[in-house]
Amino acid sequence: MADPHKQLGLIGRPLSHSFSKSYFTKKFRKLGLTNYHYELFELETIKDFLPLVKSTPGLVGLNVTIPYKKEVMSFLDEISAEANAIGAVNVIRIYKDQLFGYNTDYYGFKTSLLNWLPKSWQGKALILGTGGASLAVIAALTDCEIPFKVVSRNSGPDLLTYDQVKTGDILATHRLVLNTTPLGMQPQVETAPDLDYNKLGPRHFLFDLVYNPASTTFMKRGLSQGAMVKNGLEMLELQAEKAWDIWTK
Ligand SMILES: NC(=O)c1ccc[n+]([C@@H]2O[C@H](COP(=O)([O-])OP(=O)(O)OC[C@H]3O[C@@H](n4cnc5c(N)ncnc54)[C@H](OP(=O)(O)O)[C@@H]3O)[C@@H](O)[C@H]2O)c1
Repeated sequence: MADPHKQLGLIGRPLSHSFSKSYFTKKFRKLGLTNYHYELFELETIKDFLPLVKSTPGLVGLNVTIPYKKEVMSFLDEISAEANAIGAVNVIRIYKDQLFGYNTDYYGFKTSLLNWLPKSWQGKALILGTGGASLAVIAALTDCEIPFKVVSRNSGPDLLTYDQVKTGDILATHRLVLNTTPLGMQPQVETAPDLDYNKLGPRHFLFDLVYNPASTTFMKRGLSQGAMVKNGLEMLELQAEKAWDIWTK
């Protein structure tokens, strides 16, 4: 008997460029899994989510991207402790008509960060941006007991502004800098977070969650000051592999 049709996919809007579809399609080919398929499901509104789940034959899992990582949570039957703590779901498993939500960005970021930082590294971090990705980064740094401050274009309790970072000595004391903003991402590759890059040096570590292009302006400017740099590709692959484990467990 032929293996049953298994459908996976990505929900979000817009979905013009997707890493996940080509990643999983290549993976199915490599593993010889001809019954698995990955599709892009661009949803006009989150109200289209349950009708999509009900009408898609063989649907076993979904990735979730902007703008639905938070909104989708109210439609799920169970949410993992990490996804609840972060307040965002980026992977859904569909099993026996029940919907289970997870956050694999958190796992991908934490694993990639720990793979990269020297084992003996100690210090404080600066998180640039306050969106969904920054929530996963906050959860991971909290787990790793790395103290951090968050930088935003808007002032607020517990937030630093870019002006405060540029004019003060924060970069001297916060040597791990994490870009969780979309600045520098294709097609606006020349943009970068508004920092005084002259304040960076060889003791700084710059982690950009952006993965396309492979070397962002943020990374290039850090590199020219002697800083260590890393992009978001390994994080992306790790979160995708974790999603695969969840769907196929
Ligand atoms: N590598 C991976 O696996 C992975 C996983 C998830 C996300 N990402 C990447 O991480 C980035 C952020 O994702 P997200 O979902 O958190 O996006 P988002 O919610 O759209 O934006 C994140 C935050 O960036 C700041 N921001 C947005 N536009 C800005 C601008 N023009 N100038 C300065 N700050 C700006 C905002 O914070 P303030 O309003 O507080 O300034 C915003 O809340 C994206 O590039 C995404 O591709 C990568």
